[in-house]
Order: sequence, then C-alpha cells, then structure tokens
Amino acid sequence: MLAIASDHAGFAYKEKTKAFLDTLGIEYRDFGTKTPEAVDYPDFGHAAAQAVSDGTCSEAILVCGTGIGMSIVANKHNGVRAAECTSEAGAELARKHNNANILCFGERLVSWETAEAMIQKFLTTPFEEGRHTVRVNKIHSLTRC
Ligand code: RB5
Repeated sequence: MLAIASDHAGFAYKEKTKAFLDTLGIEYRDFGTKTPEAVDYPDFGHAAAQAVSDGTCSEAILVCGTGIGMSIVANKHNGVRAAECTSEAGAELARKHNNANILCFGERLVSWETAEAMIQKFLTTPFEEGRHTVRVNKIHSLTRC
C-alpha cells in the first residue's frame, strides 16, 4: 500500500498521481490534502511519512511546490529515506543506490511528463544492495566518520 500526500501547491499532481496509480492497479491511501485550499505541508507530509515509518504503508509519494519541504519533513521519521527528485535518472538512482522509500517532487519544478516517469522508475527499480547496503545502513545508525 502506497501513501500519497500533498499540500495545495502539489494538489493537482497528487490527483494526477492517483489517476496514474489507478491505471497501474496500484493501491494507495490518500493522506490529503483534499482540496486546493492553502494548507501547511508538514501536516500532510508527517502523516504519510509516519505510515511508512510504522509499516502501515510500504512507500510514499509526496508532492508540494518544490518537493523540498516534504522531503525535509519525511526525513524526520525513523526508517524513512525520502528523496527529492527532479529527473527520471534521479528517481532511478534514489531506488538503486539509496533504497529510497519515499519519492518527493515539486509541481512547480517538474513537468507532469517527468513526474510520471519518476513515479514509474520509483515503483519498478529495485535496490542494488551490495556496497550500497552498508552505506544505507549507516544512514540510520548515526555512525560518524
Ligand atoms: C507552498 O507555497 C510551498 O512553500 C510548499 O509547497 C513547498 O514548496 C515547500 O517546500
């Protein structure tokens, strides 16, 4: 089960994301916002990221104006690796190298065509493991150099 959330600045792309997931037959839970009225992105980003952190949802897609605020919010949660992406290649590498479990992007920064390509890569690209497993584990262990 995917978690989906946005603020007002990402609302249109969140709705497009849901329609795209419907065509793929992928189930999701929409954590809001439910209208284009102005809201605060942490209210919705925290709810979706918490669902990933506690295992209620396997992954999440978060949209705001830039994707940056949502990624900062999401990365406060244990076990979350949220990647703010602006390209298909970035979304692919976020999965391959970082095992990202949350994709964030900005409706004000990327075309819908790019957003759709990023979602596709995020959903279908596996983690490469190997040397990247050690590195990803260090993200959560707070090990300092
Ligand atoms: C809302 O205006 C905007 O600040 C928000 O969507 C996001 O881009 C924050 O990072």
